[in-house]
Amino acid sequence: MRALVIEEYGPIASHRFQTLPDPSFAADEVLIDVKAIGLNFPDALMLQGKYQKKPQTPFVPGRDAAGVVRAVGSGVSRFKPGDRVICQVLTGAFAEAVAAPQKRCFHMVDGVDFESAAAMITVFNTAYVAVHLRAKAQAGQTAIVTGAAGGVGLAALQMLKALGARTIAIVSSEQKAALARENGADHVILSNGSDVKERIHREVMTRTDNHGADLVFDTVGGDMFANTLRVLGFDGKLVIIGFASGDIPSAKANYLLYKNLAVIGAPLDIQFDHEYDKMVEGVRLTQDLYLKGKVKPNIMTTLPLENLAEAFALITGREVRGKVVLTVG
Ligand SMILES: NC(=O)c1ccc[n+]([C@@H]2O[C@H](COP(=O)([O-])OP(=O)(O)OC[C@H]3O[C@@H](n4cnc5c(N)ncnc54)[C@H](OP(=O)(O)O)[C@@H]3O)[C@@H](O)[C@H]2O)c1
Repeated sequence: MRALVIEEYGPIASHRFQTLPDPSFAADEVLIDVKAIGLNFPDALMLQGKYQKKPQTPFVPGRDAAGVVRAVGSGVSRFKPGDRVICQVLTGAFAEAVAAPQKRCFHMVDGVDFESAAAMITVFNTAYVAVHLRAKAQAGQTAIVTGAAGGVGLAALQMLKALGARTIAIVSSEQKAALARENGADHVILSNGSDVKERIHREVMTRTDNHGADLVFDTVGGDMFANTLRVLGFDGKLVIIGFASGDIPSAKANYLLYKNLAVIGAPLDIQFDHEYDKMVEGVRLTQDLYLKGKVKPNIMTTLPLENLAEAFALITGREVRGKVVLTVG
């Protein structure tokens, strides 16, 4: 099979495709013939050796793939050859075949195609963890989403809209603002300009009758974290999703105390170990909302597997609007 191999961490374009034997699979694993692969910001970090987890080289990277089960290990009960599945693994998805633990695989329902499934898995699972499991968002609440035209941002906007929340998106360009509106943003604030801090404060207060927002979903970190924390109202929650700006911020404990605020994390990967059944529910919810037309994958572009470096340049160049998908075969 063809697969991207990281021999040594370095720039994304320095990694090469190689022909490798098909992966072996353990008793609790499923061997999948990959049809489509979703790219994510954390993949870009991993390829460069900047992700929090740094697998030992050489290895095949990649986390999101959709395809057809070719074979299953002796301990696998939930899947059989021929099943259409989506998997979210820690490594191995940038290849024509991947071995995935069954606890990281989910059935694709009829009516969902491979490209959409691959595009949705990490971003909607992340949004589900943030919106439903961590924030426990409710209809009628006002929620701010930063980096709202990115993969996770758009998924969060759509999930919030589907449950009846009011949404404020923060994005860096008019093009991204239009995309955020198409995906459920009731109001958009542009993040460029030197007065961004004051503008976010003014616009959020105007939209909330001076109460402040109930929830923030922050994918950007850096100054955006502080700028949105200060517009939360009484009992507000800021949910940390990621640090796309590359800047990990900190919060002053006295500020949280004084304003009755909570800052909570929404990590995806550890949910599979701790709350697997809830993740199965989340994937079912996403596919159900997709079939009802309430959420969509927002695929910006689809390229062949071998064009992986070109595809990643859209993500690292901050040009991506929605998702980039690679196809196999
Ligand atoms: N919690 C978890 O388990 C989990 C899971 C998946 C992803 N994440 C994290 O969530 C964040 C978003 O991921 P994603 O896949 O949605 O990424 P994405 O599609 O590339 O979107 C990221 C957004 O962040 C904004 N941004 C601000 N500064 C940036 C910079 N210096 N470089 C690139 N983008 C920048 C951009 O929006 P503007 O141009 O509008 O500012 C961009 O649309 C990342 O930090 C990722 O690591 C966390």
